[in-house]
Amino acid sequence: MRSALVTGGTGTTGRRVAAFLRTRGVAVRTASRHPVTGDDQHVIFDWADPRTFAAAVDGVDRVFLVAPLSDSDPASAVESFLDAAVAAGTRRVVLLSASAVTDAPSGLGALPPLVRARVPEVAVLRPSWFIQNFVGNHPVAVGIRERGRITTATGRGRVAFIDPDDIAAVAGQLLLGNPIPDGELILTGPQALSYDEAAAVVGEVTGTAVHHTSITVEELTAAIEASGVPHDYARVLAEMDEEIAGGSEERITTTVQDVTGRAPRSFRDFLIDAHRTSSNRPERAVA
Ligand SMILES: NC(=O)c1ccc[n+]([C@@H]2O[C@H](COP(=O)([O-])OP(=O)(O)OC[C@H]3O[C@@H](n4cnc5c(N)ncnc54)[C@H](OP(=O)(O)O)[C@@H]3O)[C@@H](O)[C@H]2O)c1
Repeated sequence: MRSALVTGGTGTTGRRVAAFLRTRGVAVRTASRHPVTGDDQHVIFDWADPRTFAAAVDGVDRVFLVAPLSDSDPASAVESFLDAAVAAGTRRVVLLSASAVTDAPSGLGALPPLVRARVPEVAVLRPSWFIQNFVGNHPVAVGIRERGRITTATGRGRVAFIDPDDIAAVAGQLLLGNPIPDGELILTGPQALSYDEAAAVVGEVTGTAVHHTSITVEELTAAIEASGVPHDYARVLAEMDEEIAGGSEERITTTVQDVTGRAPRSFRDFLIDAHRTSSNRPERAVA
């Protein structure tokens, strides 16, 4: 039996996609740079090392593709990976892109046209910003937990934050072989919130005051760079906030409902569940 390969298989979306497929009887191989203790279906895979590609794609007919992170121009690594995957029999790729990324000749936007040109069946998922960023170790969550503050360059722009479980459910359905819908697959939650409004919801759910401060793109680039992200990628991330400030993410789509048959989870419901779960653990995942 052939397998599905989930790159970024230990990350926020990848591990959910792998779980979704396994519960439906699909043989899944996960791939990332670090070993997973006790999991013989996980392979060591590094976008920076093409020698790791062959073992990852062996016997694989579909791939969930999370491109190299912190790389503002990942096309060349992805191109040689796709050549190996298609030669090994891959027919379908579900690419994790982002609502903030549009097709372009270079940079992150070069990936969707590249994958479409190489692979027979392609779905490009363009999710909005993850609600998951507000919990765990994401800089937004750390800012909430350590300073009661979210810092962005989004001004009053709104975002229809999405639950990664909903992204994984869409990806999973398409990796099961469901027809790929026509048109852009922009995935959003059910409601668009500004970061001021999101901070207020976090405060209500956790019972701790949380504030949002909007700074300039230059200031945000410097702050992201100071956390260890390369300058070019820090600039790409900060400029995405500038787009949000201009209203680019203030939209709701029906893609999750259309592909999965159920409505996406709201920002508030996600946080209530995350807060309830973390309150039962020694270390808290939500501020
Ligand atoms: N966060 C958001 O709000 C948001 C919104 C829209 C789209 N996105 C997109 O989501 C993607 C990130 O997905 P995610 O949040 O699921 O990932 P994530 O939680 O950041 O995890 C990254 C995964 O990739 C692996 N990885 C990192 N570097 C690698 C490398 N050089 N070679 C091979 N594997 C590597 C990691 O495992 P190892 O460390 O073991 O390698 C891990 O499994 C990005 O492309 C981003 O554009 C994010």
